[in-house]
Amino acid sequence: MTAEHDPAPRTLPQAPGGGAEFPPGFLWGVATSAYQIEGAADRDGRGASIWDTFAHTPGKVAHGHTGDTAADHYNRSEQDVALMSELGIGAYRFSVAWPRIQPDGRGPADPRGLDFYRRLVDSLHEHGIEPALTLYHWDLPQALEDAGGWRSRDTAYRFAEYAHLVSEALGDRVRIWGTLNEPWCAAFLGYASGIHAPGVTDPAGSLVAAHHLLLGHGLAVPAIRAAAPAAEVGITLNFYPVQADSESAADRDAAHRIDLLQNRLFLDPVVRGAYPDDIREHLDRVSGTAYLRPGDEKVIGAPVDFLGVNYYSSYRVAGGGEPSGPSPWPGAEDVRFVDRGLPRTDIGWEIDADGLRRQLLRIAREHPGLTMYITENGAAFDDVPDADGRVRDDARTAYIESHLRAVHEAVAAGAEVGGYFLWSLLDNFEWAEGYGMRFGIVRVDFDTQVRTPKQSALWYGDVALRNRLPG
Ligand code: FCB
Repeated sequence: MTAEHDPAPRTLPQAPGGGAEFPPGFLWGVATSAYQIEGAADRDGRGASIWDTFAHTPGKVAHGHTGDTAADHYNRSEQDVALMSELGIGAYRFSVAWPRIQPDGRGPADPRGLDFYRRLVDSLHEHGIEPALTLYHWDLPQALEDAGGWRSRDTAYRFAEYAHLVSEALGDRVRIWGTLNEPWCAAFLGYASGIHAPGVTDPAGSLVAAHHLLLGHGLAVPAIRAAAPAAEVGITLNFYPVQADSESAADRDAAHRIDLLQNRLFLDPVVRGAYPDDIREHLDRVSGTAYLRPGDEKVIGAPVDFLGVNYYSSYRVAGGGEPSGPSPWPGAEDVRFVDRGLPRTDIGWEIDADGLRRQLLRIAREHPGLTMYITENGAAFDDVPDADGRVRDDARTAYIESHLRAVHEAVAAGAEVGGYFLWSLLDNFEWAEGYGMRFGIVRVDFDTQVRTPKQSALWYGDVALRNRLPG
């Protein structure tokens, strides 16, 4: 391993009035994902995904909500793109629904599915908005789950085939390609705690799923490059800085294991082309490593052009807890998450804006030269329209502003960050929470599908247009 150095600080342009100016060309984006906004679950030959099955299983999603209609974006994409443009948004991160392209997860692409995304991308370009495409935001075709899902090695090969089909069709018009969104969630919420689709509780199997997700990523990278040589290809991971509650050996060990599972299990093999020894030992202890074949790590380490960083919060942890029920931490079920008394968003996540600065600088230190995009950051607040119809979501604006200041500080300290994608453009289907948790900067009335930009959207659009935060 090479010695780690702090990145070299850089001088950013001075903003008039003392605001925080971002580097020229910084992308100001918003993010969404297919199942959370599209709806039109049966349209144009779309197959079922694990999220259709899961959401339709009683008791899995709050209030029995499903993504059947969601924000009806499939029928309103033109209008949603026009709205982004009016707001001043410069880039849009969306995901492709695998079951629209391959309803059963294998075989030729359905042209209707490809056409929908081609139209979306063309309309983004017409409005001067840069598309950033994610191939997998958790909607695995149900037929592939029936054949073993991510616990089956074959799914990694199916994913690479799907990646090739999409990049062949859209490679001429999309520059930024993300393979997976948050494989931590897909593996551990999907196959360990079971609170996400497919709802499995198999801790050892969740580590197998994690490896196959990584393998799928590594196989997809060259498949995308073959079809789209100019593509910038990367992966999006969700990071949480982890702090031990005390200097005790038990607390430090707890912090090490949570950091290993959350922040290093996916990043290290992607960037280093090998699982470090401590990760391999953890895998060996919890799942064995029979599924890890010679050559896999090299495949996983296919060079990437960027790392997508999703950031919402940070953790303080302690050892010596009692495992209770299914946990998304295979081999760390005993770890306790300590309440620091920080303010929380409505979904219950503690707010730690400085954690984003620390996280970006850690990545810059450990993986010098790696370009990052913040591919998600945002907050759930249950804001409601005033009598005059305006949504004064000051708490969300404050959250975004404090996190953008953290990004700016990290960039000034030398982290290479090419852009920021706010989660989310629209209120949407927040997975196991259903529509109860609103992350949008645009309010969606789910009865009428009327969109109302919140105050945060107007504020953010202004920042995007000026490329700087107010002084
Ligand atoms: C992330 C997901 C995204 C959204 C936000 C709030 O984990 O990638 O789809 O649900 O959380």
